[in-house]
Amino acid sequence: MASSLSSFLDKTLISPPTATNHHRRPRKLHKHEPFISSCLVSEPQSKGPTKPAVSVSLSEKSKQVMEMEAKYLVGTYARSPLVLASGKGCKLYDVDGKEYLDMAAGIAVNSLGHCDPDWVQAVAEQAATVTHVSNVYYSIPQVNLAKRLVDSSFADRVFFTNSGTEANEAAIKFARKFQRHSKADKNQVATEFISFTNSFHGRTMGALALTSKEHYRIPFEPVMPGVTFIEYGNVEEAKKAIVSGRTAAVFVEPIQGEGGIYSATKEFLQVLRNACNDSGALLVFDEVQCGLGRTGHLWAHEAYGVLPDLMTLAKPLAGGLPIGAVLATERVAAAINYGDHGSTFAGSPLVCHAALKVLDKIQELEFLTNVARKGLYLKELLNLKLGGNPHVKEVRGLGLIVGIELDVSASPLVDACRDSGLLVLTAGKGNVVRLVPPLIISEEELEQATEVIKKCLPALDGNNTN
Ligand SMILES: Cc1ncc(COP(=O)(O)O)c(C=O)c1O
Repeated sequence: MASSLSSFLDKTLISPPTATNHHRRPRKLHKHEPFISSCLVSEPQSKGPTKPAVSVSLSEKSKQVMEMEAKYLVGTYARSPLVLASGKGCKLYDVDGKEYLDMAAGIAVNSLGHCDPDWVQAVAEQAATVTHVSNVYYSIPQVNLAKRLVDSSFADRVFFTNSGTEANEAAIKFARKFQRHSKADKNQVATEFISFTNSFHGRTMGALALTSKEHYRIPFEPVMPGVTFIEYGNVEEAKKAIVSGRTAAVFVEPIQGEGGIYSATKEFLQVLRNACNDSGALLVFDEVQCGLGRTGHLWAHEAYGVLPDLMTLAKPLAGGLPIGAVLATERVAAAINYGDHGSTFAGSPLVCHAALKVLDKIQELEFLTNVARKGLYLKELLNLKLGGNPHVKEVRGLGLIVGIELDVSASPLVDACRDSGLLVLTAGKGNVVRLVPPLIISEEELEQATEVIKKCLPALDGNNTN
């Protein structure tokens, strides 16, 4: 494997400019370029002095891959300086064979860890049977997965997408269509949306309009109009903002992931439910990050006992293959007609068969109970080991979606953890360490992870402001 990589690198990475690639201007990778570690939620880089993030020296193999990335990819990702090559369970291995304990799970995706043997077998079998047929035709895995999701939730019907942002995009369209369908006077149709501070719903134009961080939205304005942002958890503001004849839908994450691991209260979600009932607006739960077992419940909203009209899912559903889904009640689905929405790839036999295997495992009561138990243990370990540190303000979360809020930027800690063989993410305004490990993680691995975090805490004591 190592030799095939190097011959690949030899042949392609350092190839001389050709007729087709010579016009590309490589984005230079500076030796001390500050990386915004381990989070797609990137903050504008601070102007002050930055410590070089790459404190361990990079191998030639890694450098070559990073240079190739800098040359050939559109520069949207401020990646960590780490080239991962393989994985098994909760461990990942870089191109030089160094082992990392994975507490990031591909941003809350790899719930079964890496290369789960049953999942691998399911994918291989389906790939060898049929991978893609398009939605022009029926396929058995797709209807089976839809039935499984319906049988396991509040929903009556499912629409498949390829990602979380697409699931939210579909939910936006469904909400608009539902409102149009249910109003006799087409001039009075509710078309607006409510979203919340610290929300993250995706990067496409509709989902982006619902995402609170201006840094993401402003460069692309005008995005979808008619979105009002309310403070997450503020019941009085929410009641005032959800208005009959104006609000088409309210989008809310029962637990905010990218925004900093903030959990809703039961009262907040119940107020949203009541206000939606009173006004005719739809309640949409975005469980792209917090759903599918991560909280120790199959659905995060089970912890609150409040049901939505629509729920969006993605990340872990197919165990690492791209998938998204909108779960809808019959009342909403009845407003959707042939041609209203669609996707070439969505709901392919391959991803749906893989997702059925994921659900086979995570739906087990014992599996979910273990997630809840391990989540409590993780928070206990963190409180015990980090509690005395003056930079640690709070440890919060539910199940295996846990945040450590700091009074400074989390990046130096995240970088130090990575150099010590532990992968964790940031969240919020960059001041939260986010832990979203594979749900199969063991107690020993949690102990190992928290020990590394503890040992790396001195990294926060440098010249580090947030
Ligand atoms: C709550 C939530 N919604 C939507 C998305 C967007 O999902 P994707 O990146 O698959 O488009 C994310 C991604 O982090 C998310 O956390």
